[in-house]
Amino acid sequence: MNSRSYLLLASVTVILGSIIIVLAALLATSGRDNVASSQTGSTSSPQAGATPPPLVQRFPEYGQLVAQGKAIFDKAGCPSCHAAGGVGSDTAPALAGHNRRQVISQLLNPLGAMPPFIPSKLSRQDAELVALYVENLGGAGGAHIHPAYQYEPDPIPHLSMAIVALAYNNQLDALHHIRDIIQLSDPTPELIQELNSIQVDIEASRFVKAQFNMQSLMVMLAPQEARTALTKLYSTLALDAMQNGAISAASYLDNLLTQIGGQNGDADTIREAVNLLDEGQYDQAYQKLELIQH
Ligand code: HEC
Repeated sequence: MNSRSYLLLASVTVILGSIIIVLAALLATSGRDNVASSQTGSTSSPQAGATPPPLVQRFPEYGQLVAQGKAIFDKAGCPSCHAAGGVGSDTAPALAGHNRRQVISQLLNPLGAMPPFIPSKLSRQDAELVALYVENLGGAGGAHIHPAYQYEPDPIPHLSMAIVALAYNNQLDALHHIRDIIQLSDPTPELIQELNSIQVDIEASRFVKAQFNMQSLMVMLAPQEARTALTKLYSTLALDAMQNGAISAASYLDNLLTQIGGQNGDADTIREAVNLLDEGQYDQAYQKLELIQH
């Protein structure tokens, strides 16, 4: 990337960053009610009444960026599965109700039968604009529907998704995934007890502790599957953090190395990425991490 595109990226990031702060504040004030009202809820119940109006209604100046996002959405081929306007089809779900973070996460680390759109295919700047467009389709804020996982009894994907949800401060989504495990996986009493204590931590906003306990639980339940899932998960979170200029990228990777130890073939690549990050070589670190995405 040349310095001009960095500048452009930086300004888009700043704009989107402010949007996130506003959204996070809205989510934080409405989240509690949602949790209470959906205590018995299903995985995908939209949160009635808590929906903020689409961004462009509140900030008309974003209209131009959203229009650019729509053009990129069409050009990148999203409508071939999600239909024009992202209204959904037989093969892919409707997109309204997903926030920007969820879209970015899905592009980098897709769940279900969706190809990844890593930066070499769709630039980060374009991904941000697409995400802004999707967020502006409206729908229930933070609704998070994974058709393929709705009846998935394996706890590992649900735990990964709950960890991602907390990384994006989506408490409600994380709680849904914990409940999915309790309802779908025929858990032992010990597992239920563990999940209940994780749920208490999430409800009390102790996200880091909850994430740590979920990782340990994953490794305990299925060591091999957990290592693969955690490698994908933390390298994605690091890629994402890096793009947002966050210093947490290296700590995600350190965390990952602790979990997978030296037994994973990706460990060397991750160590090299951490060194590159320490040296401020973001582009090279980014390329290293892209290598272990597949
Ligand atoms: C080849 C088909 C295909 C293409 C192309 C595709 N998707 Fe998807 N997408 C899917 C499927 C299938 C799912 C459902 C995955 C699941 O089971 O959760 C999905 C899910 C999603 C989700 C929801 C993920 C979640 O966390 O609930 C988002 C957001 C999304 N896609 C955005 C996009 C965007 C933006 C593009 C274009 C850049 C795109 N998709 C291109 C098939 C596709």
